[in-house]
Amino acid sequence: MNEKVLVVGSGGREHAIIRQLSISPAELSLYCTPGNPGTSELATNISLDTGTNDEIVKFCVDNNIDLVIIGPEDPLINGMSDALRNAGILVFGPGEAGARLEGDKEYAKELMKAANVPTASYKPFSSYNDAVNYIESADFPLVVKACGAAQGKGVAVCETKSEAEEHLSICFNDNQFGDAGQQIIIEDCLVGPELSVLVITDGDSYALLAPSRDHKRVGEADTGPNTGGMGAFATGELVPDGLGKVICDQVVDPVLAELKKRNIDYRGVLYVGLMLTEDGPQVLEFNTRFGDPETQVVLPLLNCDFFELTRSVAQHGLAKYLGQISDSNAAPLNWPGNGITFWGKTAMVVVGTAAGYPGSYPKGDKIDLPDDSEFAWIVHAGTKMENEKLVTSGGRVLGAVGIADEFTTASEKAYALISETNFKGMNYRSDIGAGFNKENDDG
Ligand code: AMP
Ligand code: GLY
Repeated sequence: MNEKVLVVGSGGREHAIIRQLSISPAELSLYCTPGNPGTSELATNISLDTGTNDEIVKFCVDNNIDLVIIGPEDPLINGMSDALRNAGILVFGPGEAGARLEGDKEYAKELMKAANVPTASYKPFSSYNDAVNYIESADFPLVVKACGAAQGKGVAVCETKSEAEEHLSICFNDNQFGDAGQQIIIEDCLVGPELSVLVITDGDSYALLAPSRDHKRVGEADTGPNTGGMGAFATGELVPDGLGKVICDQVVDPVLAELKKRNIDYRGVLYVGLMLTEDGPQVLEFNTRFGDPETQVVLPLLNCDFFELTRSVAQHGLAKYLGQISDSNAAPLNWPGNGITFWGKTAMVVVGTAAGYPGSYPKGDKIDLPDDSEFAWIVHAGTKMENEKLVTSGGRVLGAVGIADEFTTASEKAYALISETNFKGMNYRSDIGAGFNKENDDG
């Protein structure tokens, strides 16, 4: 039977989601709204207003859409999943109450405290003066975070008082993040390598996707301001034996239990951003959606049908689905992935950004793309078609993905591809995964 799937969003994450759906053995008709030139090659792009819920609900009802996968945080925070579910549509993505874990960092901290989840200690502030008074006598470095969703740019790790004052002023006085920055938290600075863990859950059962690492700073060697993400890689080698269980015991199980206790029906991805400190993993943040660019590297490592996986979550039937696949995918895993991740491979994505990003940047520059191959492909993000030419239209323009058995080969493939890609002023980090490689070489 032909099933109709709608993906909401227009970035690299959504192109990766559509791509993964397109290789499902199921007979699918794929739609993406608003989509991008990459998704248009595999799905029908539909122009709908994703800023409100009405048009999406109407489209889904009128067109008998069988499953909706919501990519970005804003529609989740704005209750798009609830609106669709109320109209009888299956959705992969938490409702407004669940998405608050991402949309309100103070709430996430409070929930972590209630669930006894390891995280940096913090103080909330709703005025510039109170926050500035606090940092007068605080120890540095510390971290200032806008509580609302600010596209990865609301967080500043501050080495000095003046850096902290500057970020506080950006939040409160310049109002750069709007309401999202009028409530902030100041938290202790943690040290260690970071790890992104994407947990697929229907609230009762869960499975972890391959462990991955993002590179958030714009500059080489993790310098400069935070961005939405400059590149990522996924490999089983990121996690020592036993760490998966620690993450489940200390973070995933207690958070899911706490959500249940609060009567929150959570169906989608819980993205756990961790710092692996000397005292064990500590949660930096939760996102309530697939990470971008992590999705570009974790989905290609899936060892199961992504459509069936997401539909089972939307139907609240993940346990049953995992039961069906675990027999056929009895891979020896040291990771609570329940057989859904193909452990032997690694993947890397290098993001090509417009000159000036994450500050202001030009748009409309012509893009020349290399050919994709079976294990190396371009994921579109900020691109669009203009007069039949592909041009830049966002800060993170595209990503070059490489897949291989060996980490270094995946890296070579991704870098070979990005070096064959061209648009005016393209910037990319040449050290995605370099620290990890070094850790490995040293270790
Ligand atoms: P967040 O959006 O909360 O994940 O923060 C974005 C980035 O800021 C993280 O990926 C870290 O690199 C950094 N960061 C956030 N919180 C902390 C912290 N408490 N200590 C050190 N770095 C942090
Ligand atoms: N890559 C970080 C995020 O998706 O928020």
